[in-house]
Amino acid sequence: MIKTRFAGINFENPFFNASGPHCTTKEELDILGQSKAAAVMTKSCTLEPREGNPSPRYVDITNNSSINSMGLPNLGYKEYMKLIPELTVHNKPIFSSVSGMKIEDNIQMISELSDVKELDAIELNLSCPNVVGKPQVGYDFQQSVEVIQEVQKICKKPLGLKLPPYFDFVHFETMAKIINQSRVNFVTCINSLGNGLVIDIAKEQVVIKPKGGFGGMGGKLVKPFGLSNVRKFRELLKPEIQVIGCGGIFSGIDAFEYILAGAD
Ligand code: SIN
Repeated sequence: MIKTRFAGINFENPFFNASGPHCTTKEELDILGQSKAAAVMTKSCTLEPREGNPSPRYVDITNNSSINSMGLPNLGYKEYMKLIPELTVHNKPIFSSVSGMKIEDNIQMISELSDVKELDAIELNLSCPNVVGKPQVGYDFQQSVEVIQEVQKICKKPLGLKLPPYFDFVHFETMAKIINQSRVNFVTCINSLGNGLVIDIAKEQVVIKPKGGFGGMGGKLVKPFGLSNVRKFRELLKPEIQVIGCGGIFSGIDAFEYILAGAD
């Protein structure tokens, strides 16, 4: 099995879960802990627990793809602070994902999570497309600069950014420049492709309930964009900033493509 070194930690293999729909509860995190994943990533947390959006909010579609508008259901950061030490029974690195509703929330959560000694790294999610009234920060470069500047002052762990997919070279270059001027240690490319629409023609309606059916697209469908974002950020970022590839990985071939594109 290929090993990797990531965020200063030796990984038994180069695979672990994205912060996604299956890493919210203790049960789900234990399943990941018991799996062959080399690390465990917790669901993007907020200051307060959240129920998330109304169901149906996740639907598998054709070609191993999906649409979701989960809306960040999570236990709230204080609960993850309690859970993280319990996850050490699995003897693998633990990453925590954070997605505050505003800069102050991110500062508070990252500052407190930084003191959890069992936690290995923090990923700041700048890219959730599913919360009404909360734009994807990663598409607002000024806001990205502001949050990175504030968070890097107080984060005492390796710090990553979960990025939305970019489609334009100017946007890749702008974001890479911001990251190269920061102390960010890694980026995760990509979050779901925001605001897709899937329609069930038999029912003559959209398949998920929140946001009029608009949701983040994931799975096989997004792999070419995951690969392009990994490749472009690998080209543009300083060599010491590592890249996690994410999206549409079902097989060793998919994983090898990401490695060839430049994923760590
Ligand atoms: C969600 O909970 O809506 C998905 C999280 C994300 O896309 O960052």
